[in-house]
Amino acid sequence: MKRSEINQAILKAKERLAEYKITLPMFAYWTMEDWKNNKAEIGRIKERMLGWDVSDFGTDDFEHCGAVLFTVRNGDKNDKEYRAPYAEKYILLYDETEQSLPFHYHIDKTEDIINRGGGVMVLEMFNKAEDGGADKETPVVVYEDGVKHTYKPGEKIYVTPGNSITIEPYVYHRFYAEKGKGYLIVGEVSKVNDDCNDNIFLYPMERFIPIEEDVDIIHPLVNEYDII
Ligand SMILES: [Fe+2]
Repeated sequence: MKRSEINQAILKAKERLAEYKITLPMFAYWTMEDWKNNKAEIGRIKERMLGWDVSDFGTDDFEHCGAVLFTVRNGDKNDKEYRAPYAEKYILLYDETEQSLPFHYHIDKTEDIINRGGGVMVLEMFNKAEDGGADKETPVVVYEDGVKHTYKPGEKIYVTPGNSITIEPYVYHRFYAEKGKGYLIVGEVSKVNDDCNDNIFLYPMERFIPIEEDVDIIHPLVNEYDII
């Protein structure tokens, strides 16, 4: 992706969150100069990979396959001192192009995917088959805000604002914003998040992508704090 596309996507996300009166932690708004001024204090932000995360998953088609994410909080299973066993993110998706996260499952992480507002979330799921692919035969059983539901593999599930689905490990899932219903603000509340190791994609994808630096950086991404 080009840096200009990443900057634009983050600006749009900040505008939309502000419309919904959602304010992120202060480091979400830091300029590069602020990051440099706070360099001595950002150890935990860097370790836990908190902050902005923009990816097209290597598809070169951000409008259809990609997202702006912001990791608000995260623990680390290997850190004996800081035992927070949880994580929280925002995930922002364009509805005009039904922008989607690609099908993936997690080995370790259970996550609640929440419609925080702005649009309608459409979610599709498959159990992981024995050969590692998507199981097109067996029903998917999930809890939605505590209520058990059973769906056909790949069935479209419409999640309206305020509602959520709990996705357990080894369930392939993708979600997107329904066209014409508005730019979508998704929340994720989960077990500790390890984006470097715990995303198994159905089709080959890159989680963190190379960036073409055509303009200056407005906000660094979670995997870029080494440049500060
Ligand atoms: Fe996921």
